[in-house]
Amino acid sequence: MPFVDIRDLGRHVGQGVTVRGWVVTTRSSGKIAFAVIRDGSGYLQSVLPKNEVSEETWTRFQTLTQEACLSVTGLVREDQRAPGGFELTASSLEVLGPSVDYPITPKEHGTSFLFEHRHLWLRSRRQVAIARIRHEVCQAIHDFFNERGFVHVDSPILSGAIGEEAGNLFSTEYFDLGKAYLAQTGQLYIEAAAAAHGKVYCFGPTFRAEKSKTRRHLTEFWMCEPEVAFADSNENMRLQEAFLSYLVGRALDRRKEELKELERDTTPLEQVTPPFPRMSYSDAIAQLQAGGSDIQWGRDLGADDETELAKQQQKPLFVFNYPKEVKAFYMKENPDDLRTVLNNDCLAPEGYGEIIGGSQREDDHDRLLARILGQGLDPATYGWYLDLRKYGTFVHSGFGLGLERTVAWICGISHIREAIAFPRQIHRLYP
Ligand code: 4AD
Ligand code: MG
Repeated sequence: MPFVDIRDLGRHVGQGVTVRGWVVTTRSSGKIAFAVIRDGSGYLQSVLPKNEVSEETWTRFQTLTQEACLSVTGLVREDQRAPGGFELTASSLEVLGPSVDYPITPKEHGTSFLFEHRHLWLRSRRQVAIARIRHEVCQAIHDFFNERGFVHVDSPILSGAIGEEAGNLFSTEYFDLGKAYLAQTGQLYIEAAAAAHGKVYCFGPTFRAEKSKTRRHLTEFWMCEPEVAFADSNENMRLQEAFLSYLVGRALDRRKEELKELERDTTPLEQVTPPFPRMSYSDAIAQLQAGGSDIQWGRDLGADDETELAKQQQKPLFVFNYPKEVKAFYMKENPDDLRTVLNNDCLAPEGYGEIIGGSQREDDHDRLLARILGQGLDPATYGWYLDLRKYGTFVHSGFGLGLERTVAWICGISHIREAIAFPRQIHRLYP
């Protein structure tokens, strides 16, 4: 019998096939037994009529346990009521890998128990659905940029220069060269690549030794960072709204089943189309103060402030031109208000907070050097970065989208740690 993936059973109606997978659940009456099987491509109900199978097969079925790996052979039948629309009437089955006392049972488990068993928990329906949506978003990221003529450039993970800020770096000894840092961002490197290709992006893991234990922070997370030559801060926001709308649209379009599995109300996601509302940082502060907050101009927005601002919007919200003091050294000063920079954050609705941070870059050599010195960074490690401002400097902008925050929002899950297969957090390095 041919081995068939569950997703392809529709092409084998009326035929004999063999399906290999893992047991999700079993139930049995005296005359007929059922097993739901998962093979990664879908879920299948397999039916075993006692009087049509050998005594040995029937007995073997009775000993099947949750997550045993098995191979079932039988006849494919169309059945509208069955999950996936097809059933397999089994004639024989073989246990390929037994599973005794599988730790994750249908009863409720605590969060920390589940994360300690993350390597097994990944198999559960919800986790499979989240992983599929993440996969779709990753694929959509590459498609979006490829369709628009961007070149994908990989930035290094080990770096001699501090990419964002000195506060939350992971470092390691690097042979005779002193300290190497794990990349907080790929941005500085793809700025160099933007002068080679015009439009570029990198997409990879980034690291921050965040001491915070919030729903939004991982110590290792994936970031997608485009960089565009000749784009200013406004054009940068236009790219962000087109990009984010595309990602959400792809998930809505191609991952309906998974969103349904997660019981995601997709109404708010359907609103995500360009243009997004925009608000200056100064207006945001005024609005927060009017709402009773004691936040003062000059302070960075906290998670609660972000939630408050985004609550008043249907779509993601751009907050632009933050105070220079709370943002990274590479952001270009706003010529109309030197206290601020030409940057933006993009705040997701429904309390998910900042999912994108972007800016126009400082393209003037001397001003950039002054910012590097002003933030107490070592100019010697930025020689190559300053060179970009010496040899054909150019207006350019870019942004970073946090993959896990985006996936958590699209999935409607409450914590970012479920949006990555093996989350790394301050108290979690296992499994
Ligand atoms: O705002 P950030 O720090 O921006 C940068 O790193 C820039 N270099 C991007 C650029 O302009 N090329 O981070 C960008 C995004 C955030 O908006 C957030 O979605 C995500 O990365 N992020 C985190 N996600 C999970 N855990 C953390 N600790 C994160 N820190 C940032
Ligand atoms: Mg940010």
